[in-house]
Amino acid sequence: MTILTQTCTPFEGQKPGTSGLRKKTRIYMQPGYVECFVQSIFNAIGGVAGKALVIGGDGRYFNAEAIQTILRMASANGAALAIVGQSGLLSTPAASNLIRQRGADGGLILSASHNPGGIDEDFGLKYNISNGGPAPEAITDAIYEQTKTLSSFKTLDTADIDLDQIGTVSLGEMAVEIVDPVDDYAALMEDLFDFAALRALFASGFTMKFDAMHAVTGPYAKTILEDTLGAPAGTVLNGVPSVDFGKGHPDPNPIWAKPLVDLVMSDDGPDFAAASDGDGDRNMILGKGVYVTPSDSLAVLAANAHLAPGYERGIAGVARSMPTSGACDRVAEALAVECFETPTGWKFFGNLLDAGRVTLCGEESAGTGSDHVREKDGLWAVLLWLNILAVRKMSVKEILQDHWQTYGRNYYSRHDYEAVDAAAANGLIAELTVKLESLAGQTFGACTVTMADTFSYHDPVDGSVSHNQGLRINFEGGGRAVLRLSGTGTEGATLRVYLERYEAPEGDLNIETQAALKDIAEATALISGLTERTGRTAPDVMT
Ligand code: G6P
Ligand code: ZN
Repeated sequence: MTILTQTCTPFEGQKPGTSGLRKKTRIYMQPGYVECFVQSIFNAIGGVAGKALVIGGDGRYFNAEAIQTILRMASANGAALAIVGQSGLLSTPAASNLIRQRGADGGLILSASHNPGGIDEDFGLKYNISNGGPAPEAITDAIYEQTKTLSSFKTLDTADIDLDQIGTVSLGEMAVEIVDPVDDYAALMEDLFDFAALRALFASGFTMKFDAMHAVTGPYAKTILEDTLGAPAGTVLNGVPSVDFGKGHPDPNPIWAKPLVDLVMSDDGPDFAAASDGDGDRNMILGKGVYVTPSDSLAVLAANAHLAPGYERGIAGVARSMPTSGACDRVAEALAVECFETPTGWKFFGNLLDAGRVTLCGEESAGTGSDHVREKDGLWAVLLWLNILAVRKMSVKEILQDHWQTYGRNYYSRHDYEAVDAAAANGLIAELTVKLESLAGQTFGACTVTMADTFSYHDPVDGSVSHNQGLRINFEGGGRAVLRLSGTGTEGATLRVYLERYEAPEGDLNIETQAALKDIAEATALISGLTERTGRTAPDVMT
């Protein structure tokens, strides 16, 4: 077996975005593309000689091939150990857990999350650091710098190894340990939650559906919900991972998981339903007749986390991304714990979690998690909800009503305008940025602006500052609109408009969400020139 040093010319645009490098699969399949990006990662982190790496992905098209390439390169670059999920599968939270449990130096996670998979769809690769979380910007910037000047990469001249057999094999000088992707993760969940109470809940006839959306969480959900907790067979839907996610969009929201939403809205629907995304870090929570918006889910979990054994001593604090609603802020205030507002992207929670400043984190983009790993965690959120339902013996709907009656309700919706012409979207943001300063005091339709700015984040732990993290417009009466461009798309631009309005506990808590936000949506469209600039009169997706 020989170590080969191959010369290469840099590929343009290997710039990691919100969550790693996402590109069309065919771009990734170009000869040398994976190699150049992976060597750039290795160079940027000071090499991998003697290091242990966790490697796995969501099983999408090209997952297995890319893993073989990465393994050869890790060995050629001197890594001591690669811990790989069987058949190349690891959910993102399970990979984060393995990095932490095994004290690995880092990990490479292959996923384009909730984007579709297939030769004509999306692929992605990201690097996570030794705390189990996504690499912070200093590292992703260094990786990008490497990609621009890279002139060679190292690999081995060996055939693929069999990733289906659990056990340890050698690849050159490196050991490759192939592990069951579910075992360690399932053990962690059993530490955090009252599995006896959950077993009793299912034994009492409580019904649930979990939609794995043909993606990586199928095996995790079957093992934990059906095999361990006794939920009846068939509780997990679409539970066999497929390379193209059954040709669907593995995004757990009311659009892409519509069949599940229709089911819980019907008279004979289950008591509880949930879905997760391609790589298992996102979640959607539903109860009979009700969709729980991710911002509300975070707030409910923060208010009730102490009911689960892993959090019985209470939470240290809570963090949310800036576009996420302020519902959890009210819970933090009541609990007298700290609450942080970070930019979009899970990586910004890492420092707060490591420093013990927060226990729970969440984002409007269907991500919730805690200090148990350094990624958001779809199944974890589902199990915490189940634990709360088991203890409180109330329905999801009753828990939500009770929550709003205690804290008030932050009506909330995100409007997405997808595949917008990139120049038009950039123009809208640029022009609005300039206008922000002059907005305060002006009235648009039924709303008067009280404050408008671009969000900058000052990390209280390491002092770093991140600018241009979205545009905020606050309105009289506590309403708010946020505008930003998605950092995870692969085609054109996606404009996200986040709308929010607070209603106090004694106010009207049961208005239809879009109706409650209509004035704010109209004012935002007037301020931004949305229709003229994008040519769109309605969003493609509303969450
Ligand atoms: C990924 C990240 C999340 C982030 C989301 C934002 O899923 O892991 O932390 O909230 O991207 O996506 P966007 O498309 O809005 O940039
Ligand atoms: Zn994901």
